[in-house]
Amino acid sequence: MLKDIQGFEHPDLLVGCGVPDDAGVFRLRPDLALVQTVDFFTPVVDDPYQFGQIAAANALSDIYTMGAIPVTALNLVAYPVCELGTDTLKAILEGGSDKVAEAGAVLLGGHSVEDKEPKYGLAVTGIIHPDELITNSGAREGDLLVLTKPLGAGVLVTALKGGLLAPNEEENLAKGMAALNAAAAKAMKSVGVHACTDITGFGLLGHLREMAVNSCVDAEVELASVPFLPRAEELAEEGLIPAGAYRNREHLEEHIETRGKIRQALIDLLFDPQTSGGLLIAVPEERGDQLLAGLEQSSIADPRVIGRILGSGTGEILVKGL
Ligand code: CO
Ligand code: CO
Ligand code: CO
Repeated sequence: MLKDIQGFEHPDLLVGCGVPDDAGVFRLRPDLALVQTVDFFTPVVDDPYQFGQIAAANALSDIYTMGAIPVTALNLVAYPVCELGTDTLKAILEGGSDKVAEAGAVLLGGHSVEDKEPKYGLAVTGIIHPDELITNSGAREGDLLVLTKPLGAGVLVTALKGGLLAPNEEENLAKGMAALNAAAAKAMKSVGVHACTDITGFGLLGHLREMAVNSCVDAEVELASVPFLPRAEELAEEGLIPAGAYRNREHLEEHIETRGKIRQALIDLLFDPQTSGGLLIAVPEERGDQLLAGLEQSSIADPRVIGRILGSGTGEILVKGL
């Protein structure tokens, strides 16, 4: 929407509202740029401490996608203090603060408002040398697409809210969403890649589409290679699809071509909005193995090559079935 409101132009504006990316970037000096992002949302799990961790990991992720290092963070809080009391809020803030510390950044403060529905997140500032910036617009023909976290978090959160997950399944889901993308970003930077974004509200296909449009290429996804969370397929088949997945599909459908046999539940999962999802990296083919090895060494559980960048184009995506 910002595109239609005001076009800011400045010689040091490196990434702004014109080309949507994960974070904005502004050059302070020839060797130093600010990377800034903000994100907050309503609780996705019952445990307030875990919610705080997940919201913070999600907000920090947009700094990592750019190849930057998070330096400072500010809390954003909306909370019904009379109804829920201060203990829950304290746990949320502790979860967030612990993640910021894990990221090696510093929490400077924040702002809160009274609100019926709790919401939490962070505004994060990172730094980078402008030459090392990784955007979502640099993907090139032949690049492999690597995904660092399995899909299906939206479907599992929906199941959790319906009381359909066992305690250990909830724990695994929360752990996955609370995991920082820091190690994945470090591996990606040491290998050298063409483009990166993270998978959040628009789902795999939405964020891949954004990367493809911004890079002026088309892309293909090999469905058999896409990793899904345990039970995601089964729950999607039962219809536990979050509303956001349908909105994503409606938005993107005309740009997605499918080929071969594909079960509806799997397509739904490609549109599934993720909370604090993994990185989607476009890496030159000859460095693909090196990236996978680096990710595995950084204890990323199951990094996968899920497709590739085709030739120049307008962001059309081909999903190849089994
Ligand atoms: Co992002
Ligand atoms: Co964001
Ligand atoms: Co204030």
